Amino acid sequence: MILGTGGTIAGTASDASDNVGYQAAQLGVGQLIAAIPPLAQRRLEAEQVAQLDSKDMDFTTWQLLAERVAFHLERPEVAGLVITHGTDTLEETAYFLQRVLAPGKPVVITAAMRPATALQTDGPQNLLDAVTLAAAGSAPGVFVVFAGSIYSAEQVRKVHSYRVDAFASADGARLAVVEEGVVRWFAARPQRDAGPAFDLALLRRSALTWPRVQMVFNHVGADGSVVRALLAHGVDGLVVAGTGNGSLSQSLEAALREAQAQGVRVLRSTRCDAGPVTASNEALPSAGALSPVKARIALLLDLLSNPAQR
Ligand code: SIN
Repeated sequence: MILGTGGTIAGTASDASDNVGYQAAQLGVGQLIAAIPPLAQRRLEAEQVAQLDSKDMDFTTWQLLAERVAFHLERPEVAGLVITHGTDTLEETAYFLQRVLAPGKPVVITAAMRPATALQTDGPQNLLDAVTLAAAGSAPGVFVVFAGSIYSAEQVRKVHSYRVDAFASADGARLAVVEEGVVRWFAARPQRDAGPAFDLALLRRSALTWPRVQMVFNHVGADGSVVRALLAHGVDGLVVAGTGNGSLSQSLEAALREAQAQGVRVLRSTRCDAGPVTASNEALPSAGALSPVKARIALLLDLLSNPAQR
């Protein structure tokens, strides 16, 4: 089952040598499949769930996507799912789906850095590789397949704004590669617990009423004014991307403690590309090894599940 959501993989440019001046989300998922001759030998179904540039991914689309993925996962004839997506927020959608569905079959998200019209488009090979992993049906959970590598939803990050090999895992935790239609695992393939991890009914309320979780950074001169502005605006949770091991300027920490005192949940992550924030009783709560954007999703889901904590 291949679900389309848009992205550069479905993008087109008027000039084949133009890798950046294109419109994302122009081709339907059926057109993407038709452009890959080996896929004609597969038993595939396709569904267009959305058609957007993933910078504009939103909670309403996540609600729909989670429902459609859950629906197809239940079908005994479906071995696995592929989702085509934009690269820009792919890691957030991957983590969200893993957390809310904890699928017992492979759900493989892929994308492209070059539009479908580019001289060296990367989308068709990425999609073919994603189908290879999904069709094998043997690795449960949400994965990202990109540039021949397989990453877990929990660890994958977009690490380059332009290069075709744009994804990596924190601490180098690449799980496997796809080579000529064969998946080669570097370690035992992950045996994640299959769902239900999350009550999907909780996602069905209007996306406009989902908890507001915002992000702030520690940086030179961080004085807490952004936190106070967010408190004035109304916020349910705050993820702070601290420096190093989640350290915060005295002023920023004071503002975050004020937020906590007002009932706002605060999670401390790091703006470093890799590594955890080690927990301590004295410090604000740690997000562990989650990147700031994934910590935001974790806090959002926690607040959806436990509204009393708000
Ligand atoms: C997007 O994220 O939808 C556009 C950028 C990309 O896919 O690389």
